[in-house]
Amino acid sequence: MNIQNRFNLTGRAALVTGSSRGIGRAIALGLAECGAAVAVHGTKPAKTLDETLADVRKLSPRSVAVTSELGQPDAPARLVADTISALGGLDILVANASIQIRKPWAEVTQAEMEQQMQVNFHATLRMIQTAVPVMRAKKWGRILTIGSVQQQRPHPDMVVYAASKSAQENLVRNLAKQLGPDGITINNLAPGVILTDRNTPVLADETYAERVRGIIPLRSFGETEDCVGAALLLCSDAGRYITGVDLLVDGGMALP
Ligand SMILES: NC(=O)c1ccc[n+]([C@@H]2O[C@H](COP(=O)([O-])OP(=O)(O)OC[C@H]3O[C@@H](n4cnc5c(N)ncnc54)[C@H](OP(=O)(O)O)[C@@H]3O)[C@@H](O)[C@H]2O)c1
Repeated sequence: MNIQNRFNLTGRAALVTGSSRGIGRAIALGLAECGAAVAVHGTKPAKTLDETLADVRKLSPRSVAVTSELGQPDAPARLVADTISALGGLDILVANASIQIRKPWAEVTQAEMEQQMQVNFHATLRMIQTAVPVMRAKKWGRILTIGSVQQQRPHPDMVVYAASKSAQENLVRNLAKQLGPDGITINNLAPGVILTDRNTPVLADETYAERVRGIIPLRSFGETEDCVGAALLLCSDAGRYITGVDLLVDGGMALP
């Protein structure tokens, strides 16, 4: 198989949660460019979701949009089931949507803890539980969770978010051993500071932005496209012998 064929995803069906915007959108476009039919996802119908679907369809016409608020306990399993119905299967699951609440650790409420753990961890496991039987039947599957550099460098005002990402990464290592015999790989991609809607407001403070840049060896923030190469490797046959890894895309930020 030549190198291009190893990245070819023609005939594959993919779900990317939280792909109406940001990193998820870039990964959805990358998967579509490699030939996968992609279910793009957002919490509710929105202009951003429509625009992403239109752009993804230019690359992969069979793609669809699905909506779901993953804070609801039954929603993750339903989202995967809806995607399987819409695309006729599911080969690639990218668990990318997350909630991040910035607050001093002592002030975090019970509801805020539950909301972040539900969307960032419980929903991921529920989606995997629903997707794996379909992947197992084909003896081929790719699961990619999106973690964070905060697994290694937790931000003092994001204690629950950081812990939820560490829990997810632990899940990946656990399941890699259990899913490997079925031809299913599962990996975690951990971004550093990537310019998206969620950090635009804080990075508008140039003093703060300069301080953060100073702890990144490459001395710049990442673009959403910077996550795509790693995601395509882990979602294709190019990465078929890679499972259970935590791949940082962080400009070196996690280095001690
Ligand atoms: N940006 C960074 O610097 C950075 C760094 C480390 C890790 N990450 C991780 O990378 C992933 C993507 O981050 P991003 O910055 O690209 O995100 P973003 O631009 O804030 O976009 C968030 C996406 O998640 C969806 N979403 C939010 N809450 C949801 C919920 N309750 N249920 C279902 N979907 C929900 C949003 O849908 P709507 O459009 O409908 O709201 C949107 O599609 C996340 O897992 C994040 O933790 C990001």
